[in-house]
Amino acid sequence: MSIEKSRPIYLDNNATTPLAPDVINAMAECLRHNFGNPSSAHPYGEKAKKEVEDARGKVANLISAVPDEIIFTSGGTEANNLAIFGTAQIFKSGHIISSSIEHPSVMNALKHLEGRNFRITYLPVDKYGIIDPDDLKKHIKSNTFLITIMHSNNETGSIQPIAEIGDIAKGKGIVFHCDAAQSVGKVPVNVKRLNVDLLTIVSHKFYGPKGTGALYIRRGTDIRPMLFGASHEKGLRPGTENVCSIAGLGKASEVAKEEMKARVSGMRHLTNIFHKELRREIPGIRLNGHPVKRLPNTLNLSFPDIQGSALLESLKNDIAASTGSACHEGKHTPSSVLKAMGISDKDAFSAVRLSLGRENTEAQIKKAVKAIVRAYRFLCNF
Ligand SMILES: Cc1ncc(COP(=O)(O)O)c(C=O)c1O
Repeated sequence: MSIEKSRPIYLDNNATTPLAPDVINAMAECLRHNFGNPSSAHPYGEKAKKEVEDARGKVANLISAVPDEIIFTSGGTEANNLAIFGTAQIFKSGHIISSSIEHPSVMNALKHLEGRNFRITYLPVDKYGIIDPDDLKKHIKSNTFLITIMHSNNETGSIQPIAEIGDIAKGKGIVFHCDAAQSVGKVPVNVKRLNVDLLTIVSHKFYGPKGTGALYIRRGTDIRPMLFGASHEKGLRPGTENVCSIAGLGKASEVAKEEMKARVSGMRHLTNIFHKELRREIPGIRLNGHPVKRLPNTLNLSFPDIQGSALLESLKNDIAASTGSACHEGKHTPSSVLKAMGISDKDAFSAVRLSLGRENTEAQIKKAVKAIVRAYRFLCNF
């Protein structure tokens, strides 16, 4: 069943995206006809190796890198861990700067280092969820060796001033890692312009398969592996490559590059309609995140006087979205990201994240508005 016709309307694209049809075709072709081990020195191995290297070229092209700067991983969590632990192993001790709104795959890696010869500074964010580069500058110490800041936030979509932070890091000779899990494939990401040394890419956030991702490692940036084995991926990520998922990530990158302009303007158009119509019907609605410096597909909204979870529960058959981020679901605490932005518990509990994708249509958005307004009014009168 196509996502466009399916119900509930899928509005949870920051949790994951459906595979693009071209990605399914590329993966199916690979699964049927390309079973070789890329390390084997015969035609089956060579064919599989070519598949992996073609994909590496496509991923590199999407972020304006060169192919040998791409290391395939099992996803964003592994890429973030490899960036942080791989750099920490070089320096052995010292100071790391991050933010208070990072994904758990960064936050918990840093917590693990804290107290083990490493000190961490978690920078605060403003009311839009954005850090201040001048504040970051002030926190740099003589032993700061790593800065790790996300490109855009999974809950609010707010985009950080990464190029500015990259300039600061470069000027001080500090390694700069950026978790771009939510940005790659949704907005243009150019590693040269951003001045990043390490950048996390996650396939299933832009219509590729789950369980696959990559870490961009700028030429000349030294990191150590977390896993030990044979020499795959320059010894930084040993283990026989997940060839067909890598092929899927490659295809997703190629499609993203081709569609980028249309994707950004299409998403922005739909999100603007969504926000405008909801605001007209429910004037007290509050946007959590920056009004402009935000992913074009993301709307995090607090609905006055109700709980976000109650709203989504009553909309279960109409729309699929999430409160906070999917990774945190099941926990009954207000979102730590919204709290870090100074949002009250009440407004944080009333938040819903609507994240659109390439398959959403204007008709679906209008239907979603009607359903949300109906459910909201019902809950208010309850
Ligand atoms: C900002 C961010 N970083 C990292 C990840 C982790 O990606 P994965 O679950 O594929 O390991 C996610 C996934 O939700 C994310 O949103």
